[in-house]
Amino acid sequence: MSDRGFVVTPWEVKGEVDYDKLMEEFGVQPIDDKLEEKLKRYTCGQLHPQIGRKVFFSHRDLDWILDRYEDGEKFFLYTGRGPSGHTHIGHIIPWIFTRDLQRYFDAEVYFQLTDDEKFLVKPDLSLEDTIGYAYDNALDVIACGFEKGKTWLFLDTEYMKTLYGIAVRIAKHITFSTVKAIFGFTSSTNIGMVFFPAIQAAPCFLPSILKGRNIPCLIPAAIDQDPYWRGVARAVAPRLGFYKPAQIHCKFLPGLGRGGKMSASQPETAIFTTDRLEVAEAKIMNAYTGGQPTVKEQRAKGGNPDICPIYQYYLFLFEEDDGRLKERYLDCRSGSLLCGDCKETLAKRVSSFLKEHQKRRIKAKNVLEDFILRD
Ligand code: TRP
Repeated sequence: MSDRGFVVTPWEVKGEVDYDKLMEEFGVQPIDDKLEEKLKRYTCGQLHPQIGRKVFFSHRDLDWILDRYEDGEKFFLYTGRGPSGHTHIGHIIPWIFTRDLQRYFDAEVYFQLTDDEKFLVKPDLSLEDTIGYAYDNALDVIACGFEKGKTWLFLDTEYMKTLYGIAVRIAKHITFSTVKAIFGFTSSTNIGMVFFPAIQAAPCFLPSILKGRNIPCLIPAAIDQDPYWRGVARAVAPRLGFYKPAQIHCKFLPGLGRGGKMSASQPETAIFTTDRLEVAEAKIMNAYTGGQPTVKEQRAKGGNPDICPIYQYYLFLFEEDDGRLKERYLDCRSGSLLCGDCKETLAKRVSSFLKEHQKRRIKAKNVLEDFILRD
């Protein structure tokens, strides 16, 4: 780990992330009060909870893209998923936000499934595996409630005829020394990965190419994806005659393990959308919390919601009401709320969320082809 105590790259997130430091390093802006006010005009007069709670906390050119929209120039949304396994709740957080943006702005959504990337970067996964996960994950995307006819999912390996032409136009302007500096590639990095950044940047310009006019692009994504936009897509956009894509960045949902760790190799630290309800509930009941070791101490000293993954689950998705979220925070601090009760309430909420999601996921199988973009 680096000497600053955390690592955030598109392939690895480790340690306690200092988001202020990241914003500074990446050169992105915080979503400030003025921008919040501007956003409210489009989001039914209220701040979206993920903005209000700083889950989505930073951006590039969001004010610019809202001005364009105000002038009657609509934007599209671009996001994606690296299909390296089953979907967990952490993945769904930005998808729900993207779905809501789609509704607020009546925007098309382009959703990239990078089966190529995950095959190239994960030694143990075959291409059949990542393609399989891509179709599996696509069901979760659709189950989030994206609009049919306005939402297009594509697998890189299957949509390559269209993507490749865009990727090579991008790649021609990006040198090896640039991607080495941005992504940390070395001489032993496989050459698929060296080219891949051009493929992830390509969808930023895809609708403009498909429709033959320049269309602004807004990318909602976790902040670890920023190098693709900063170092590649935005760098080449003017040279290709396109708008630079705008971004809105979110934080990572912590895992249920100690220190908020979420790890694919420890399935008990994440709730997967396909978990049986009892399994999901048990994971929550066994989670690490910010509480004291005994009830007596908890009553006397109170807990620490700031380091508690359970509290973060409420904050990210499972308590819609700001007043009640605040109450939960204060009751934890004062010692009047015990971890057992707090977990039990969350377990019930997560379980009913999953129950509905799983039903929608099954239904998604019938409409999958309507959402998939093919050459
Ligand atoms: N590289 C991303 C991942 O590993 C997947 C992805 C592709 C993506 N395009 C994107 C994520 C655009 C956010 C926005 O998950």
